[in-house]
Amino acid sequence: MTAAVPALLQVRDLHAGYGRVSVLEGVSLEVPERGLVALVGSNGAGKSTLLRALSGLIPSSAGQIVFAGETLDGAAPAKIVGRGLLHVAEGRRLFRTQSVRDNLQLGLWGARLAKAEAAARFDRVYTLFPVLHERQNARAGILSGGQQQMLAVAQALMHAPRLLMLDEPSLGLAPAVIDQLLDAVVQLRRDGTAILLVEQMVERALQIADTAYVLQNGRVIGHGPARELQGSELIRQAYLGAGAKAAPIPTPTSPPEVSA
Ligand SMILES: Nc1ncnc2c1ncn2[C@@H]1O[C@H](COP(=O)(O)OP(=O)(O)O)[C@@H](O)[C@H]1O
Ligand SMILES: [Mg+2]
Repeated sequence: MTAAVPALLQVRDLHAGYGRVSVLEGVSLEVPERGLVALVGSNGAGKSTLLRALSGLIPSSAGQIVFAGETLDGAAPAKIVGRGLLHVAEGRRLFRTQSVRDNLQLGLWGARLAKAEAAARFDRVYTLFPVLHERQNARAGILSGGQQQMLAVAQALMHAPRLLMLDEPSLGLAPAVIDQLLDAVVQLRRDGTAILLVEQMVERALQIADTAYVLQNGRVIGHGPARELQGSELIRQAYLGAGAKAAPIPTPTSPPEVSA
């Protein structure tokens, strides 16, 4: 890797929250071009808040966001999307009464593409998620949870993002479906899309990511090569963290609770 190449996304000392409630207390992180970066941390650590601040859904009060060489601070969400930074929020927000195809078409809203380019984007998402092609005429609301999540991701992909931010894509899905989704994430990254992945399946996320950042109480408490963080003390601490102060800290001799 050449150190001189600036990362695609550079976040420096970012502060953000909701009204007077401060959540992010100076977050810095980087996502390189074509990189797959995992963001992990317990419930309430501020992961979703960070994604919201990056996509312009909430304002930041201090710090800097540089994406593809341009400062994003204060930019409107639509403008951020236009620059190629896409956010798939928690909870699969789809147009439930519209067909799969119409949801994808709506995903192109504001993109003003030539017909051939729009068709190429449909091809691309249907290749990545063949089941969406099979079900293109089905209403989104009757799809399975996994298919709805695929559709939510596909909708963002219609914008041909340079960086895709995924907030807990596996939430509530069966293991086999989670595998399919994470395989698609790996494939996307192989095709050149950078990914910032927030994932509650921490060990799975660490298996596929290059780098991981650990967030706790709105601060990055550590980062490094994802492989090195697997099973690490840092990860254990982050999950015992603020939300589990009353829980006894297991001694090194206690048996593992559940095998992964
Ligand atoms: N819309 C909101 N308004 C006020 N506080 C919020 C809102 N969303 C989240 N929070 C608070 O911000 C903190 C971080 O939440 P969140 O970013 O959702 O964490 P994570 O995604 O890591 O679970 C929590 O204390 C949460 O209660
Ligand atoms: Mg969250």
